[in-house]
Amino acid sequence: MSNILEGIFQRASALNKTIVLPEGEDKRVVAAASDVVKKGIAKIVLLGDENEIKQNNPDVDLTGVTVLNPVTYEKTDAYAELLFNLRAGKINKKTGLAEFPEIEDAKKNILKDYTMYAALMIKMGDADGMVSGACHSTANTLRPALQVIKTKAGTKLVSCYFLMVAPEGGNKFCKDDCFIFSDSGLVQNPTSEELAYIALSSAESAQAIVGMEPKVAFLSHSSKGSAKHADVDKVVNAFNLFKEIAPTVKAEGELQLDSAIVPEVAALKAPNSEVAGQANVLIFPDLDAGNIGYKLVERLGGFTAIGPLCQGFDKPVNDLSRGCKASDIVAAVAITCLQANNK
Ligand SMILES: CC(C)(COP(=O)(O)OP(=O)(O)OC[C@H]1O[C@@H](n2cnc3c(N)ncnc32)[C@H](O)[C@@H]1OP(=O)(O)O)[C@@H](O)C(=O)NCCC(=O)NCCS
Repeated sequence: MSNILEGIFQRASALNKTIVLPEGEDKRVVAAASDVVKKGIAKIVLLGDENEIKQNNPDVDLTGVTVLNPVTYEKTDAYAELLFNLRAGKINKKTGLAEFPEIEDAKKNILKDYTMYAALMIKMGDADGMVSGACHSTANTLRPALQVIKTKAGTKLVSCYFLMVAPEGGNKFCKDDCFIFSDSGLVQNPTSEELAYIALSSAESAQAIVGMEPKVAFLSHSSKGSAKHADVDKVVNAFNLFKEIAPTVKAEGELQLDSAIVPEVAALKAPNSEVAGQANVLIFPDLDAGNIGYKLVERLGGFTAIGPLCQGFDKPVNDLSRGCKASDIVAAVAITCLQANNK
């Protein structure tokens, strides 16, 4: 295990947070729930029918895991009422009608959609955070949280990053042994303002999750005016706005990837910058670049990609890749505990 992950587990264990895992039907989630509790990383609430979960996972020891069945749980009606009130006046995009005309409609919804159920538990203060998405799409995992948990004060939007951990033996362009790549998972085509706020959340994540001083690079196909295009202007404007909203955070833009992380190239293309050549938080201009970028570094560079991890929620929610392993879920739970502590 990398030192970075080990540090994250240790710091999470000291916090004693409660994390809800809504996908009790998934064997990897059940195995992870057991592992998290055994390692003392967090308290776990697993959603589903206890008998069914035990039947489907006869070899997993669930001692210490709280299994909660939404169908019979005494607070389900209160969660349905909360959803009804929070979404009052909202129109369903597909039908053009009210999302939940009656409390009973909200109740039917949460008994079908345990991700929404978990989001309401968090909103009500019954859990500190959620990890989901082992068997649901990113959109279906994040939409309930976007609808009811919302963004935290001082943040314009929720975004997703990957924590890219260097392979054993290190990487010469990665002095901190990891990078943060944003947004690699959620915001399709951010405006300059959105990019600036994605960078602000990412700088906070660098500090809160990894404990490293952020050095933020706004990536482009241009370095300090070497190319002219509206796409470049978008990144330049984002960088200028970032300097206004986060004047004390070290940042540089616009930079090509090599100007951002290779000192020799930085010396030529962005001399006298305190970030160019040593950036550790990389802000991609759009989701295509961010998503392709993290997969290149993972597959060709041998880095471990942890994520997508969400930032900007009022209470932490993290999405899993559907190809995840139980150990990925354990790591996501630990990171969620640290996020819950960073209010
Ligand atoms: C997450 C996602 C599904 C939201 O899309 P959507 O369901 O069409 O969302 P809507 O625009 O209807 O927004 C739903 C709610 O979430 C809010 N919201 C959407 N994106 C948000 C963001 N980035 N930050 C904060 N709030 C957001 C909206 O304001 C809206 O709130 P409201 O219903 O209270 O008014 C969409 O952004 C998406 O699909 N992103 C790409 C995810 C993906 O496929 N990633 C793959 C790579 S891992």
